[in-house]
Amino acid sequence: MARDILVTSALPYANGSIHLGHLVEYIQTDIWARFQNLAGNRCIYVCADDAHGTPIMLKARAAGIEAEDLIAEFGAEHQKDFGDFLIGFDNYYTTHSTENRELAETIFGRLSDAGYISRRTISQAFDEEYGMFLPDRFIQGECPKCGATEQYGDACEVCGATYQPTELSTPVSVLSGATPVERESEHYFFQLAQFEQFLHNWTHGEQIQDAITRKLDEWFEAGLKDWDISRDAPYFGFKIPGSDNKYFYVWLDAPIGYMASFANLCARRDDLSFDDFWGRDSNAELYHFIGKDIVYFHALFWPAMLEGAGYRTPTSIHAHGFLTVNGDKMSKSRGTFIRARTWLDHLPAEYLRYYFAAKLSGRVEDIDLNLDDFVARINSDLIGKYVNIASRTANFITKRFDGQLASALDQPALFDEVAAAGANIRKHFEQRRFAQGVRAIMDLADQTNAYLAERAPWQIAREDGRDAELQQICTTALSVFAQLTIYLKPILPQTAANVEAFLNVTALDWSHLDTPIVDHTINKFKPLLKRVEKDTIERMLAASAEDLAPKSADHSSTVGDTASASASDDNNTIQIDDFAKVDLRVARVAGAESVEGADKLLKLTLDVGDLGQRQVFAGIKPSYDPADLEGRLTVMVANLAPRKMRFGTSEGMVLAAGDQPYLLAPDSGAEPGMPIK
Ligand code: 2FM
Ligand code: ZN
Repeated sequence: MARDILVTSALPYANGSIHLGHLVEYIQTDIWARFQNLAGNRCIYVCADDAHGTPIMLKARAAGIEAEDLIAEFGAEHQKDFGDFLIGFDNYYTTHSTENRELAETIFGRLSDAGYISRRTISQAFDEEYGMFLPDRFIQGECPKCGATEQYGDACEVCGATYQPTELSTPVSVLSGATPVERESEHYFFQLAQFEQFLHNWTHGEQIQDAITRKLDEWFEAGLKDWDISRDAPYFGFKIPGSDNKYFYVWLDAPIGYMASFANLCARRDDLSFDDFWGRDSNAELYHFIGKDIVYFHALFWPAMLEGAGYRTPTSIHAHGFLTVNGDKMSKSRGTFIRARTWLDHLPAEYLRYYFAAKLSGRVEDIDLNLDDFVARINSDLIGKYVNIASRTANFITKRFDGQLASALDQPALFDEVAAAGANIRKHFEQRRFAQGVRAIMDLADQTNAYLAERAPWQIAREDGRDAELQQICTTALSVFAQLTIYLKPILPQTAANVEAFLNVTALDWSHLDTPIVDHTINKFKPLLKRVEKDTIERMLAASAEDLAPKSADHSSTVGDTASASASDDNNTIQIDDFAKVDLRVARVAGAESVEGADKLLKLTLDVGDLGQRQVFAGIKPSYDPADLEGRLTVMVANLAPRKMRFGTSEGMVLAAGDQPYLLAPDSGAEPGMPIK
């Protein structure tokens, strides 16, 4: 039976740009939500900007604008970035909304009525010049443990100690530089300890990841503490009903923003009811995708708030690790702190989606974006394996059969095997083991390429009387290509749409896995995806460093070094970057003929896989009989500028050694189009 599922990603703060670290989460949530819908369930994905709190208030102040204007600007930027990364939210809202205010007031009211809220006076650091209480992060001083200077009021970045801001020696306000004073104020507290038994049961439920259960056990042992849910004015947020000048702490109304975004969606969708998803008796599933740093809020406060206020609790929390780039924390000076927009300026969104999917294991561990591995993986998996299946077969259907696929498959067993693999792939996706899912899909692509290599439609195409066979082989390959597209569709939604247009079929989903595409007319094949070049990555890193690094002498020398490292010296040596510009590819000689009037030249037609066919004039006639060359593999320079010769244009160069000369050949197993590394 189809399931009803609601998923969320953590709400990004409305005072900064989206970067690749954020995208680890939005991409995986989106893949999961798309997968659920394609597999026949109803999965709704909502999110919002997290718009409240002191940093947002102060940033707006510093910019001389209203907080409402600041959050509107970031809201628009975030939505554009997410949209361009193909994150398919059903609704993207803001926590600064009427729905969120009403829900926050309802939840707070119910928790108060049930006796879960207490009030008491506490003493906190106050900046007299700014006239405001200081959050821990706005106080700096010497660590009480190791004496390190300029440490924040909550924890020391040098020795790792955690403490109260009042314990810092020589504290100063980050805002004014003044020494904070102690001031008393009454606050509201949510009594988490009253939910200990409930939380213990909830966190030991089947659905919670083991690593999270273990972390929560540590917190249970330390004892559950009251949670301060109020802040004094000035603050950007919602006023607490019945109070003079107190506001809900941003973390109180942030998760309520999940509900508010869904409520906002319900108002324009007749098929959705708020209570069906959030009521106590809801049969829907509810999952929150979050980073490992905010588990405390989502696995303790949030379920306790929902339970105490009479709503359903989350089915589970899906926590993930952080992103590293080239093995290190993202760094502004190295250019590896990459904004979503900087990526999009240089590379397709789908390539990051694919790479993250290929790395995500469903466990709470960090993932690394290794940029060399990224280039190799995209080129080898997506272009060399997946797209290759279509690019090597589609043109035969178009040119020889007027776009018409055969009425039967040449190899139904292959098609059946790919369909049968769906059960396993589905399990991996369901468990968010996208890496294993991707591996299984690429294994199927390998098998399909091996089938093509064995049946060699490009050979059959040259033989008379074998048309029916050729058409059936290409029909098999393209039917399997459609199946692989269904599997990859949650990860590559745009490419899947392009494939649907090429195959001339309506939107593909898992229900189409068992039906081969036969007796059907397809459209002309257009290249689906482009290879990634190493220098594109270099340019993106340079742009990131430029965008984000402080404009200092240090920064400009970094950029200068990069530029000089890629320039060649005056002698005959070249830099690796220069060599990397040469696009060497495996090519198969599809045709070879003598050139009238040229003693040494042969005119070669080369099959270069996804790059299509190339005509090259090569001076190898003294060593080779053209008939012997057909079908042979060699190596060519694929990005040489075309040269007009007396006999025609040469679109590349084959590699040959010595005066004889000897044509270079790759080892067996190489396929046309493979890049030489
Ligand atoms: O950590 C953060 O970036 C928060 N803005 C996440 C909030 S998630 C939810 F609770 F709203
Ligand atoms: Zn310290």
